[in-house]
Amino acid sequence: MTKIMIGYGTTEGQTARIADHIAEVIRSRGVEAQALDLKQSTDVGLDGYDAVIVGGSIHMGKHEEHVVDFVQKNRIRLERLPSAFFSVSLAAHGDLENARAYVENFEQQTGWRPAQVGLFSGALLYRQYGFLKRLMMKKIVSDKPGGLSTDTSSDHVYTDWDEVKRFAEAFLERVVPQDASKIEA
Ligand SMILES: Cc1cc2nc3c(=O)[nH]c(=O)nc-3n(C[C@H](O)[C@H](O)[C@H](O)COP(=O)(O)O)c2cc1C
Repeated sequence: MTKIMIGYGTTEGQTARIADHIAEVIRSRGVEAQALDLKQSTDVGLDGYDAVIVGGSIHMGKHEEHVVDFVQKNRIRLERLPSAFFSVSLAAHGDLENARAYVENFEQQTGWRPAQVGLFSGALLYRQYGFLKRLMMKKIVSDKPGGLSTDTSSDHVYTDWDEVKRFAEAFLERVVPQDASKIEA
């Protein structure tokens, strides 16, 4: 049976929720999927997987270092297997040019040019941040386009879950074309 890995990096948890959502969409189509936090599984390899999705989130303009390391280590396998990348940021909400630039940087750093890329809006989790981080994020956000909230009394999730679902379905279509998936199910 086809088995898909969704390896991700997360700092405040939103990318983990997105990876879980992708895994659920894939499983609901009768295909095995495993979401793996790459920080907890530093030496995880790709043996046993037929396809891979890698995801990471942006902090101070960069994806998590361990996501970069994972891709650098596994680049050749990623190029051979059906694979895709998704990037989670606030820039994806109203500042797509920057969101694309983050991915362009990542591609240059890793040498991997994924055939499919998702740019997903993340979350502003003011209630989860400590005092200084909350103040800093409020300041950063007030200078950015996209109408991000400066109301620090609540959390704000900007992820478009339908967009995440469409990304997962488009990936699945590449890995298990529809007729084959019906045969598997
Ligand atoms: C300290 C900090 C720095 C951030 N820096 C950026 C940034 O440079 N550009 C951006 O688009 N989003 C930035 N973000 C927004 C995150 O990408 C967003 O909150 C995302 O949901 C984080 O995903 P995670 O919870 O999986 O780590 C930052 C968030 C925090 C808390």
